Amino acid sequence: MRPFDGRTVVLGVTGGIAAYKAVMLARLLTQAGAHVDVVLTRSAKEFVGAVTFEALTGRPVHEALVAQGHALDHIRLAKRADLVIVAPATADFLARAAQGHADDLLTAVLLATAAPVVIAPAMNDRMWAHPQVGHNVGRLRAFGDSLVEPDVGPLAQGEGSGPGRLPEPETLIAHAARALEGLTSLAGRHVVVTAGPTRESLDPVRFLTNHSTGRMGVAIAAAAWQRGADVTLIHGPLEVPLPVGPVAHAVTSTADMHDAVLAALPIADVLVMAAAPADFAPVSVASEKLSKRAGDAVHTVALTTTSDILRDTRAVRPAHAVIVGFALETGGLDAKATAKLSEKGLDLIVGNDATVPGAGFGTDTNVVTIYDREGGREALPLAAKSDVAHHLLDRIDARLAPAVA
Ligand code: CTP
Repeated sequence: MRPFDGRTVVLGVTGGIAAYKAVMLARLLTQAGAHVDVVLTRSAKEFVGAVTFEALTGRPVHEALVAQGHALDHIRLAKRADLVIVAPATADFLARAAQGHADDLLTAVLLATAAPVVIAPAMNDRMWAHPQVGHNVGRLRAFGDSLVEPDVGPLAQGEGSGPGRLPEPETLIAHAARALEGLTSLAGRHVVVTAGPTRESLDPVRFLTNHSTGRMGVAIAAAAWQRGADVTLIHGPLEVPLPVGPVAHAVTSTADMHDAVLAALPIADVLVMAAAPADFAPVSVASEKLSKRAGDAVHTVALTTTSDILRDTRAVRPAHAVIVGFALETGGLDAKATAKLSEKGLDLIVGNDATVPGAGFGTDTNVVTIYDREGGREALPLAAKSDVAHHLLDRIDARLAPAVA
C-alpha cells in the first residue's frame, strides 16, 4: 500500500477495551510496508501485551519515558516518525494530550513530533457526549491533529448502542493513509468520481446492465480521499465495499447518474468518470413482468440510447476543472480513446483493452494507457488498480492550477 512503504509509524495504544483492535492495526500497517513503533501506556498493558505487538511488528515495544537509563527515547521516536496514530485514545488520554502533558512516553512523543497525528478516541457513549471530552477534542483539532470519529454500535459491558466504538482497523488505516498523503497534494480539492455499472429496467424484475464491478472507480475515490480531497463517489450497484472517507451517492439508472453528476459538478475541481453507465435503455418499461408465454420464440425489445453524461457536463463544468474519462475497448484502443477524448472535451482519458490479460472488469489489476488533450500518450505496465489510481491522480494533480491560499 503506497503511502506506508518504508515509512515509520508510531502506534500509541492507551488503556481501553478496544486495545485489541490496535493489534490488528499494527499487523495491517506492517503488512502495508510500515515500520511500526508501538508505544503502550501503563494502562494499555492491562489490556494487551507487548509480546503480541513485538511478534507482529518485528520491533521492540516502547513503554517507559526512561528505559534502561536511556532518557531520550521520546525524542528518537518522535523524530523518526512519519506519522503518529493513537488508537484507541481514552478520555483520560485526550485530556492529558489536550493539556500538553508529557508525563509518559506517548504524550511526550506527541509534543516532540513534527509528524501528522491521528487520534482515534474510544469510550462509553455518555463519556464521549460529555462537554469536557468535546472540549479536549476541539483543542486537539485546533493543534492540527486529525480526529477519527468513533463508530456507533454496541458498546462494551452490554451498555447498549451509541457513539464510542473504535472504528475497525481497516477504517483506521485509511485515516492513517490520508494523514500521510493528505499533506501533499489534493487537500481542499473537491473530486467527483463515478463508479460501477448502471441498470436500465425492462420490467419490474429485469434490467439491462454490464459487467462493471466498480473496482477502478472505488480505487480512485479511495486514493483521492487519502490525498486529502473531499470526495463524492456517485456509484451504481457495486460488487466491492464502499471506501472509507468519500461521501457516497448511490444511483441506479444512467439518468440518475446523469442528474447526480450534473448536480455535483459546479463545485468540483476534478471529475473522473470511471463508471460504465448503460448506453441503452428499453424504450418503455413494462408495468408487469413480461411473460415468456405471451409471445413468439423471438422477443424483440426496442432500445433507446441513454444520455451521454460526460458530453452533457460541458455546460456546467467549472472552467478550471480537470475532466477525466475512461474508454474500455476491445481493439483499436488508440484511435477510439483519442476520438472519445476530443468528442467529450476531456483533459485526460484512461484507455484499456478488455482483451489484454489483467485489464478490464472484475480484476484487481489494470493495464492502461493515459492520453491527454495535448496529444500525449503514456502506456503503463500491469499494475494494481490502487497504483493506477495514484498514478492517474499524479497526472490530475499536475494539471490543476495551484490552489488559492
Ligand atoms: N460515459 C458517459 N455517459 C454514458 C456512457 C459513458 O459519460 N452514457 C462515459 C464513461 O463513464 C467513460 C466515457 O464516457 O468515461 C467513455 O465511455 P464508453 O462506454 O467507452 O464510451 P461511449 O461514449 O459509451 O461510446 P461507445 O459505447 O460507442 O464505445
